[in-house]
Amino acid sequence: MPLPRLPALELAERALDASGPCADLIPMGGVPVLPMPAHVVEAARIAAGRVFPRRSRGSAELRRTISDHLRSTFGVDADPEAELLITHGAQHGMSLVLRALLDPGDEVLVPAPTYFFDGMIRLAGVRPIYVPSEEKCGWDHDPAAVEAAVTPATRALLICNPNNPTGYLPRRERLEQLLDVAARHGLIVLADESYERYVWDGPGYRPQMLLRNRHPDLVTVTSLSKNYAFTSWRVGYVNAPAHLLEPIHRALEWDVINVGDVAQAAAVAALTGPQDWIEPSFATLRSRRDLLVAGLARAGLKTPPPDAGVFAFVDFGPLGVVSRALEDLLLSHGVTALAGDAFQGPATHARVLYGGSAAALTEVTDRLASLTAGVRRT
Ligand SMILES: Cc1ncc(COP(=O)(O)O)c(C=O)c1O
Repeated sequence: MPLPRLPALELAERALDASGPCADLIPMGGVPVLPMPAHVVEAARIAAGRVFPRRSRGSAELRRTISDHLRSTFGVDADPEAELLITHGAQHGMSLVLRALLDPGDEVLVPAPTYFFDGMIRLAGVRPIYVPSEEKCGWDHDPAAVEAAVTPATRALLICNPNNPTGYLPRRERLEQLLDVAARHGLIVLADESYERYVWDGPGYRPQMLLRNRHPDLVTVTSLSKNYAFTSWRVGYVNAPAHLLEPIHRALEWDVINVGDVAQAAAVAALTGPQDWIEPSFATLRSRRDLLVAGLARAGLKTPPPDAGVFAFVDFGPLGVVSRALEDLLLSHGVTALAGDAFQGPATHARVLYGGSAAALTEVTDRLASLTAGVRRT
């Protein structure tokens, strides 16, 4: 079955087509896009002149660095030798995990709306079963609904924590309940935890690995793209117990052999060096979120205030158009936002990014206000 394009990339290209109706596009930021600081550039320069032993699990230094980071920041214990694997980002990590641990014909349960896992699940020959979360509950995941969706073919539960696109964070008891459902039915829990530094409110980010005693079959995928502005370097990692990591490691060897050593050396420097080049980007995001939510309310548009991430999942129902037509309408007003069906959620909704400047966000909500006012008048 031919796969569609990754929705965010397709929309970004459409938006870039300045010859179309969207020449007056407002720059809307997602994750920080920053030049690397001197210490990261220097680490990459030195690495470029070195010869590296081939280590398909990833550089021993980077795995040790990540293990130290997980312990000191979150209290998570991850054995760098047996429980960590370096990947080409979280996208590669999750795709690999799905192909390594699941078989064609298996089913994976995915609370939705959710990030773009659909293509990678189908690439693995697996069937995604989306379990809708409810907006009126702040997009909270419903363990009873998840359990009701289990069939004899179900092998895994996939959670996005924090959730992209809703900014939802499961609180501790909710995570425990979801893991208990998985344990009862012998499911592996796959968690994408790519937004660990983008947490503003609510119950806080709780790595599922803190609950390892509850259920041993947990696999977490994380992205340095988001947390260290590493989008261009393509580095992420998988954390899993040895019995699950070993098949994932073997799949990585067949897939890509190993991740580039220069990028891994740069990642060590990014994790261990000063953080003053990137911290200001995170420091402004909470207030940007507040600015967006307040502006949306003035425009008559609703969203549960997101606890985490860099996006709000907005109900554009008042505009009366859905899906691609909604994206086109927003684009024609200079607003780039991906419709909810790209996230297996309602097509009346769209994800609005709030990582840009305060001026850009004000411009976004001003234009949305004139759009909704126009609809109300007609
Ligand atoms: C939830 C989530 N997972 C994974 C990715 C991709 O991460 P990476 O660049 O590390 O592949 C993204 C990027 O937007 C994301 O939002």
